[in-house]
Amino acid sequence: MKNWYFFREAMKSFRTTGSITSSSKALVNKLVEPLPAHRPLVIVELGPGDGCVTRAILDKVHPESKVTAFEINPVFVEKLASIKDERLRVLPTGAERLTDYVEPATVDYVVSSLPLSMIPKGVKETILKQSQLVLRPDGRYLQFQYALQDYGLLKDYFNRVSVSFTMANLPPAFIYSCSLSIV
Ligand SMILES: C[S@@+](CC[C@H](N)C(=O)[O-])C[C@H]1O[C@@H](n2cnc3c(N)ncnc32)[C@H](O)[C@@H]1O
Repeated sequence: MKNWYFFREAMKSFRTTGSITSSSKALVNKLVEPLPAHRPLVIVELGPGDGCVTRAILDKVHPESKVTAFEINPVFVEKLASIKDERLRVLPTGAERLTDYVEPATVDYVVSSLPLSMIPKGVKETILKQSQLVLRPDGRYLQFQYALQDYGLLKDYFNRVSVSFTMANLPPAFIYSCSLSIV
């Protein structure tokens, strides 16, 4: 297995890792597809894990963009330190502490790989509330999941929620794109 340590971390703490392997290139590309490259962006990443999404974001976005990533697993935090990119700040902190580190209404995109279905309801509500607070009015929340069970919850926090799907991942995944604005 390419990322054997990912599998090992999943076995140690499946409830927080939420998957036994890192996301496929096809899923990652679909998740970061909406990010424009022509202007600097302020991005928050939630649950970067081994950094597959982080690298795709950094490869795609404008050179003056900033990415702040929140990851609770210390093994993944250590791996993320190997990404040498001045645009990236990795915080060894839970996403539920987002507003301790990020100013309100300053973020263009929140990109989340968090296993929402496995996170206790109160904690995920805190994370979604704080994501809503840090996003600019025209910002977007991007999230992939393996089931649609949190669609209703996302609708409580965002005015527009659209869903796409990819078979090219194990397991196949849904990708949400959520906006605060109604247009
Ligand atoms: C499904 S893995 C995604 C990893 C990688 N982004 C990918 O797509 O393969 C979920 C990640 O979220 C992290 N995580 C879970 N709960 C978290 C929380 N409350 N705050 C920050 N990270 C969390 C886990 O440690 C894990 O690295």
